[in-house]
Amino acid sequence: MQSEKTILCIGAGYVGGPTMAVIADKCPDYKVIVADINPKRIEAWKTDDLPIYEPGLLDVVKRARGRNLFFTTDVFSAIEEAAIIFVSVNTPTKTFGSGAGRASDLQYWEKTARDIIEHSKDNKIVVEKSTLPVRTAEAMSRILRSNDKGLKFEVLSNPEFLAEGTAIADLDNPDRVLVGAMQTETGMAALQKVVEIYARWVPKEKIITTNVWSSELTKLVSNAMLAQRISSVNSISAFCEKTDANIREVSKAVSMDSRIGSKFLNASVGFGGSCFKKDILNLVYLCEHYNLPEVAQYWEQVVKMNEYQERRFAKRVVENMFNTVAGKKIAVFGFAFKADTGDTRESPAIYVTELLAEEKANIAIYDPKAIENAKEDLAHLTSATIEYCNDPYQAAEGAHAILILTEWKEFKEYDYKKIYSKMNKPAFIFDGRNILNTKELYELGFNVFSIGQTPLTHL
Ligand SMILES: NC(=O)c1ccc[n+]([C@@H]2O[C@H](COP(=O)([O-])OP(=O)(O)OC[C@H]3O[C@@H](n4cnc5c(N)ncnc54)[C@H](O)[C@@H]3O)[C@@H](O)[C@H]2O)c1
Repeated sequence: MQSEKTILCIGAGYVGGPTMAVIADKCPDYKVIVADINPKRIEAWKTDDLPIYEPGLLDVVKRARGRNLFFTTDVFSAIEEAAIIFVSVNTPTKTFGSGAGRASDLQYWEKTARDIIEHSKDNKIVVEKSTLPVRTAEAMSRILRSNDKGLKFEVLSNPEFLAEGTAIADLDNPDRVLVGAMQTETGMAALQKVVEIYARWVPKEKIITTNVWSSELTKLVSNAMLAQRISSVNSISAFCEKTDANIREVSKAVSMDSRIGSKFLNASVGFGGSCFKKDILNLVYLCEHYNLPEVAQYWEQVVKMNEYQERRFAKRVVENMFNTVAGKKIAVFGFAFKADTGDTRESPAIYVTELLAEEKANIAIYDPKAIENAKEDLAHLTSATIEYCNDPYQAAEGAHAILILTEWKEFKEYDYKKIYSKMNKPAFIFDGRNILNTKELYELGFNVFSIGQTPLTHL
């Protein structure tokens, strides 16, 4: 039987899990069910070894789990019971057919719409939590309207802006919550019900309501703008390396202009993550679809610049190690696409490792949280020599170079004197995140290459 105070989220991933845990924590009078077709993931959500690593997440889950937060693979019963259904399934880039390599693959999304029709006995609110192409709500509404039970479904858009690594803090104290609805009486009534949930802990002025298309588009644009800042600063880092300007100094001085601000202006090996590339390519695809080729090309360049930066980094490693890394041990510190997560989707580390493997290097990888994902990502490199290490000192022992590919805080705290003493000489550090103290490392004997800075070498 449907209960007005039961919320379901379909998809127990990086978004569905943390988002629903926080809603359950803040709204103890709601029953919150998180359902997924992946039994392994659901089982892990029921233990203290959660399927994703996110600081603070376990505490939130433990407070609500079994009280008003439940994890299940029984998607169909949960659909029947819930009045509000958030859909947070994956929407990767299509790899086949029309729009391959750009458009979103909406097969998982559409499957949930069909499950909802089949297993609903009452009217429901369906909330798009996944990131979707603009006007998906229209397609979703059409599918849902096609039910022959006389049921009415209101489709809302409520994109998620959390960042992995800070998901709990972002959900606790979001910059804004966005809810989009059809501008109809029933659309407005449904919107109000979702707004009421967030209003339990988010100040009213931070809850923005818009039409459903603006809401869908805002998520794509937010990610495109964030990624664009990284690509912009990375493009200048290449320029700095040619001119002895220092990207750290340039970006600090630029960021002190209050109109520009300081966030997302750190030069690096490139951005990763499951979203930026996929969402920009989706935006590009939509612009092409609506016959806006100039707009499409403008945004596509953000992705191209990122690929250039990854390639440039890997090439710089090989070139500066006397044009060969064959047979040399290279320690990779960090495989996650950013710090404080175990997520490696689209991580620059994948590309860099692939290139080093092609060059026949012996690779030793250490990451505090992402080793299991790294093994899966690199499983196709069957003829490469790759060692997965639990200890950074072991990874660096006998290595010719260390590559910093994730900005884990602990990388700044290692005893680099000890590390240097056990490395092959000349010893190199390529800091792909600009987090280390280059001068200190140089004084220890390292040849230090950072992004967008003049190398410090003894050669
Ligand atoms: N990861 C992020 O930081 C982030 C941030 C904002 C928005 N998003 C968006 O949120 C969506 C989800 O992303 P994610 O990172 O959580 O993905 P994910 O791959 O971690 O999780 C998606 C889950 O959906 C499940 N699923 C797929 N089809 C299903 C079905 N028919 N029934 C039940 N479960 C099903 C999968 O098994 C998987 O566990 C994407 O659209 C993404 O673009 C992600």
